[in-house]
Amino acid sequence: MVDRSADSTVEHEDTEKLPSSKLGTKEYWDEAYSAELANFNDNGDVGEVWFGESSMTRIVKWIKSNEKITKSSTFLDIGCGNGMLLVKLAHHGYTNLTGVDYSQSAVDLASSVAAEEQVNIKYLVWDILNTESGGLCSDQKFDVCLDKGTYDAISLNPDDATGCQAKYIDNVSCLLTSDGVFIICSCNWTKPELLAQFSNKFEFLESLPAPSFSFGGQSGNTVTTLVFRAKKS
Ligand SMILES: C[S@@+](CC[C@H](N)C(=O)[O-])C[C@H]1O[C@@H](n2cnc3c(N)ncnc32)[C@H](O)[C@@H]1O
Repeated sequence: MVDRSADSTVEHEDTEKLPSSKLGTKEYWDEAYSAELANFNDNGDVGEVWFGESSMTRIVKWIKSNEKITKSSTFLDIGCGNGMLLVKLAHHGYTNLTGVDYSQSAVDLASSVAAEEQVNIKYLVWDILNTESGGLCSDQKFDVCLDKGTYDAISLNPDDATGCQAKYIDNVSCLLTSDGVFIICSCNWTKPELLAQFSNKFEFLESLPAPSFSFGGQSGNTVTTLVFRAKKS
């Protein structure tokens, strides 16, 4: 992941485009999760928890404090990777959990981890940019959509990052119930950048606290976590 967090308080030349990277390709994630699945099978290591344990803790804490979200609310983790965020939610008693990822090896890893943890989570191979292609029914909606690092990866697409970002924003807004919330956790985009990119389709609700650090006399946050609601049409 391109980590621009060190200058997150600085205005960027281009607030809609990141330099492309292999992290924006499916091949990269297929290879990464195949290796993590082999490791998990060998020694039980679940692999990388993106943005660390504390980012999951903050998201789960916010969800638990929200009175409108119940234990049976429907959750969708978009680009779930090893699925550890959903596992954590399952351990906190949430029962209606779905994870999707376009990488078959990520879904295999997440399914193996869930089996080991003895939690009931539905996993599907699904490309969020191509919602026609099987996976979820086209009219399925969720009370909570989660993204930890997936929009970051999509923004690094070497072919058409700007088009992919727009498609992602459209598709996620369609996946939410009328009162549903979308929680996004990013290390590549700052709060003003995310607000600018999502404001057409989403209403900003709040930002979750993030650990801040100082570097070269400037202070900034390492990870930006925002909560949105889809705008009513
Ligand atoms: C930085 S990883 C984060 C994984 C996981 N959310 C976590 O926090 O550990 C980005 C994830 O997004 C997935 N991904 C990228 N583009 C996707 C797409 N178009 N549809 C579904 N998943 C995608 C990758 O396969 C990868 O699992």
